[in-house]
Amino acid sequence: MIDNKSAFCCPVCGGQLQKDGKSLRCENKHCYDYAKSGYVNLLMSQQGRLHGDDRPMVRARTAFLSAGHYRPLLDQIVETALTCVSDAPKIADTGCGEGWYTQELHNALVSKGFSPETVGVDISRDALTAAAKRPFPAEFAVASLYHIPLPDEWAELILNVFAPDCMDEFARILAPKGYLLKIVPREDHLLELKSAVYESVYENEVTPPQSDAFELISDTVVRYTLHLTDNETICNLFSMTPYARKTSPSDMAKLNALNELDTTAAFSVLLYRKR
Ligand SMILES: C[S@@+](CC[C@H](N)C(=O)[O-])C[C@H]1O[C@@H](n2cnc3c(N)ncnc32)[C@H](O)[C@@H]1O
Repeated sequence: MIDNKSAFCCPVCGGQLQKDGKSLRCENKHCYDYAKSGYVNLLMSQQGRLHGDDRPMVRARTAFLSAGHYRPLLDQIVETALTCVSDAPKIADTGCGEGWYTQELHNALVSKGFSPETVGVDISRDALTAAAKRPFPAEFAVASLYHIPLPDEWAELILNVFAPDCMDEFARILAPKGYLLKIVPREDHLLELKSAVYESVYENEVTPPQSDAFELISDTVVRYTLHLTDNETICNLFSMTPYARKTSPSDMAKLNALNELDTTAAFSVLLYRKR
């Protein structure tokens, strides 16, 4: 944020938001208070109910990511971002969760001499409570990624890691020839973890989004073996997956008995350019 100007715009009238004490305010006097942790809630009731990751899921994600298990993926995200950003890129992390990738990408760019302006949006208040406490200069807003409170053509780079996407909305907030970096799991991602828990196991469907507004520039696969050596870390990883919410007690018992696991981590780092 430069001076009092926020990157975000008013979800009611679209006007530029300015920082005013503990609130953001537009010229039409619509006002949004900062939460204690530092995010602002810009989600309108008709744009979807607050859901997304809850507090235990956020805690598990923070513990797992901060231990570095997905650093090879982060390194590829940074490497790809470096090929397409200008000296002072505006970056929007959409579905940013607890902000690990947001912060790490921002700091990696700063360490290479770039001056990024970074924002994160997510529909989960619990996730943003964690993200907004991170010690780096970024703005975070509770919002739906189907109605992102950013002006047209604001972003030079959108990051979207394991989160839903809305290609029309991404095209709206991206500057001409701006980039979208989308990360999706590959078909064999966590296959051995699933095999340890479930009777029958299917590979993930990999369906990179397609849109006339975007051209797919590259699809870089990151694949390696995760060596996990304690039950807490294995459970944290499981909590980060969509399976966490739909596993039977008997399958959960199998998970809770696992103290060691080698499992495949496999991702596609998809780089799109706005046409
Ligand atoms: C699997 S998590 C990924 C979080 C983060 N990108 C990461 O990889 O650590 C998916 C995130 O998308 C958020 N999410 C789900 N639906 C959303 C929506 N409609 N708008 C904004 N965020 C959403 C969830 O709250 C959650 O934080």
